[in-house]
Amino acid sequence: MNIASRFVCGTRRMFSNNQLRNISTINYGDMKEEIVTQLEYPINRCRSSISNKTIAVLGYGPQGRSQALNIKDNNLKVIIGVRKHGTSWENAKRDGWIPGMDLFDIEEATSRGKIIKYLLSDSGQIEQWKTVKDNLDSNDTLYFSHGFGIHYYDYTKINPPEDVNVVMVSPKCSGNTVRRNFNNQNGFSSSYAIYKDYDGTAEETCLSLAFLIGNNYVFKTTFENEVVSDLTGERCVLMGLIQGAFLAQYKVLRNKGHSPCEAYHETIEEALQSLYPLINEKGMDWLYKNCSTTAQRGALDWAPKFEEKLTPLIEECYENVKNNTEVKRVIECNSNENYREELNKELDLIKNQEMWDVGNQIRKIKKEINTHNCTNNYRTYRYNGVYYDN
Ligand SMILES: NC(=O)c1ccc[n+]([C@@H]2O[C@H](COP(=O)([O-])OP(=O)(O)OC[C@H]3O[C@@H](n4cnc5c(N)ncnc54)[C@H](OP(=O)(O)O)[C@@H]3O)[C@@H](O)[C@H]2O)c1
Repeated sequence: MNIASRFVCGTRRMFSNNQLRNISTINYGDMKEEIVTQLEYPINRCRSSISNKTIAVLGYGPQGRSQALNIKDNNLKVIIGVRKHGTSWENAKRDGWIPGMDLFDIEEATSRGKIIKYLLSDSGQIEQWKTVKDNLDSNDTLYFSHGFGIHYYDYTKINPPEDVNVVMVSPKCSGNTVRRNFNNQNGFSSSYAIYKDYDGTAEETCLSLAFLIGNNYVFKTTFENEVVSDLTGERCVLMGLIQGAFLAQYKVLRNKGHSPCEAYHETIEEALQSLYPLINEKGMDWLYKNCSTTAQRGALDWAPKFEEKLTPLIEECYENVKNNTEVKRVIECNSNENYREELNKELDLIKNQEMWDVGNQIRKIKKEINTHNCTNNYRTYRYNGVYYDN
C-alpha cells in the first residue's frame, strides 16, 4: 500500500497549564504520535517556565556550545562547566564566557546550576558522574541529549538521585546544525523524554528547554528507544551504511575504467548537491516522478533488491545494539589509553581514500570559482576584479 496515502497529519486543541495548546498529530493506521510545536511553546512561555533558574551547561563540544549559546541568546542565565584549561575551556573563553563569572569547572558549575545540561561526551559523562552526582541538589533538573548514560546504566553507572527530575532533548541533527539553524531561523527537530518527574515540573521544563535551544517541533520517546534507534541509525543509513555504499559504487565504477571525476560525480556530487536535498524538500515519490524515465525504471527495479539485501544486515546491527554488544565495544574502545591515536589513524584512512581526496579537490575548484564570482546567470562575469562580457 502507498505509505503516503495512509499518512494523515492534523492538529487539535486542548488546554494544558492554563494555556491553549495545539496538538499536531501524525496518524498512521492505529498509531497516533503527538508532535509538540513552537506554536504551543512561544519563547515567553518557555522563559517563564524556566523563570530565574540558572542553567549549567556541562561540556562545550558541538552540542554544549550550540545549546548554551542559543539559550543565552534567548536571554536566560547560562553558565558553562568544563575541565579547566582544556580545549573546551579555551573555546568557551574565545566565545566570550568569562572564568569566574559564567565559566567554571564542572564541580562549581553543577553546584551553581538548577538545571544541569549534561553534555560531555558519553565517555566523559561516565568519568565525571561522581563529581556531578555529588553536586546535585534536591529539585534540580538533570538534562541529557542522549539516552546512552541512563539506559546503559549497567555499564555507565549513571544513576541519578531520587529527588531530581531527569529529562532528555535529543536533537536529530549535528551540534553545528543546532547553532546554524538557530541563527538562520530554520530551526530543527528533536525527540524528548521524561525519565523522572520528581516535582511535577519535568515535562514543562523539558519542553521549554527544547524550544529555547531552537527546535521547531519535538516528538516523544523514551531514553531506551532514543538510544537504540540512534545507535542503529548512525551505524546504518546516517553514516556507516552510506560510507560503505558510496565506496562500493565508487570502487565498482573505477575498477570498470571510469575516471575519478566521473565516479565521484555519479556517486556523491549529484547525490548531495541535487537529489538528497530534493528528497528532503519534496519526498522520494516526487523525485521518482520528476526524473528521466530511464532513471525511474532502473531505480524502481533495483530499490527492492537493495532492500532485500540490506534488511538482514540492518536487523543484525539492531540486535547488536539491543543485546549491548555495541555499547560494550564503545566503552571498551573509549577506555583504551591509545584510543585517540588509533582513532585518528582510522579517520586518516577515510580521508585518504581516493573518493574523498577527489571530493576535496572538487571542493577546492568550486571555492576558486566562487571567489572569482563567476556566474552563468548574467552576460557579464568578473575575473580578478575585471568585468568581461560573455
Ligand atoms: N554531536 C552530535 O551531533 C550530537 C547529536 C545529538 C546528541 N548528542 C549528544 O550530546 C552529548 C554531547 O555530545 P557532543 O558531540 O557535543 O560532545 P563531544 O564532542 O562528544 O564531547 C565534548 C565535551 O566533552 C568534554 N569531555 C570529554 N571527556 C571528558 C572527561 N573525561 N572529563 C571532562 N570533560 C570531558 C570535552 O571537554 P574537553 O574539551 O576539555 O576535552 C567537551 O567539552 C552526548 O551525549 C551526545 O551523544 C550529540
